[in-house]
Amino acid sequence: MKLIESIHIDSISYRKLIKLLRIKTGLNFEYYNKPFIEKRIKARMIRVKCDDPEDYLKEISSKEEEVKKFIDGFTINYTFFFRDYDIFETFQDIMVQGLDVSKKDIECDIKPDPSKLARFRTKANAAKSSMKNRQAKPDNYYMDLFVFLNRLAFYKKLKLAPSEKNCINIWSCPCATGEEPYSIAMVMDNLKSQISRFPKYRIVASDIAHEAIVKAKVGIYTDDAMKEISDYYENKYFTKQKTHFGHNNAINSKLKGDIEWIEEDVTQGHKRPYKYDIIFCRYLLIYFNRENRAKFLKIIEDRLVENGILILGKTETLLDRKSSLKLIDSRNRIYIKSSSNIL
Ligand SMILES: C[S@@+](CC[C@H](N)C(=O)[O-])C[C@H]1O[C@@H](n2cnc3c(N)ncnc32)[C@H](O)[C@@H]1O
Repeated sequence: MKLIESIHIDSISYRKLIKLLRIKTGLNFEYYNKPFIEKRIKARMIRVKCDDPEDYLKEISSKEEEVKKFIDGFTINYTFFFRDYDIFETFQDIMVQGLDVSKKDIECDIKPDPSKLARFRTKANAAKSSMKNRQAKPDNYYMDLFVFLNRLAFYKKLKLAPSEKNCINIWSCPCATGEEPYSIAMVMDNLKSQISRFPKYRIVASDIAHEAIVKAKVGIYTDDAMKEISDYYENKYFTKQKTHFGHNNAINSKLKGDIEWIEEDVTQGHKRPYKYDIIFCRYLLIYFNRENRAKFLKIIEDRLVENGILILGKTETLLDRKSSLKLIDSRNRIYIKSSSNIL
């Protein structure tokens, strides 16, 4: 079988390919890292046995099926429930602190059992120790998250709840096959079931991949997606269903109704009119090239309310220090939109 490294795509063919793909799909591939897109093209060339990029051009211009397959291969929908569970603990702490509730009084156990974590320990440990190393650096530049959040209008909004006007808007972008927005919905629903005067909230989830959104709406998952979910949440929000191959996990249908699903290319803007209090934008920036990352972040920044919170993936970072997005938690990659110069 041919190896990816043995295929060469010259820059003229590359431009022709992404131009044609843009015409066929409406997607702007120039936003993405060139090596990332090239690798996807080469992987498809191998699958359809094309050695020459010009032949692959003919393939996508004549076969709609190939365009669809290219898109499916290009969108990496890898995700799982409570991915980087400490982010969800922080998210939950933000809500709990904002509502002035004592954490001791509520059941909200997000940390998965050690036996469950042990199953994927090697990989997780590698990632965590690299995070720890980064954390170990003196980091005086950044304010403590909670000291800052305590002064926020966002907290005031929580305290004024509940009313439609004070609805907390949360956007999961991109949501892939739904595990992230469902994790958010579980945290919110669990708190709501235990806290009186809980604010109204709206969860919007969007992704470019049609198949991913369809899967999210169906809400049935294999055990792979459950590797970082605690027993508490698994028991409360899932039903095991028998299959020919063992079992799968069906999400509680009430949670499905808590989420607005949207299929969209977020680089072209967002289809809903809302401004958001919290945006989860995790593991998307890594695919974008430097120049277009800034354009995309402008879209996200505009959709955040003043003092709104942006949560990136743990390996992602914003480079533009001039933007109104200020890093307030370097370990968890949490930014706040603040026009003030204090930060
Ligand atoms: C690795 S997943 C991240 C899912 C989730 N946020 C998480 O952290 O687990 C990346 C997702 O980005 C989506 N994506 C890529 N380009 C996109 C675009 N232009 N607009 C919207 N979604 C996009 C892919 O379809 C894929 O589902």
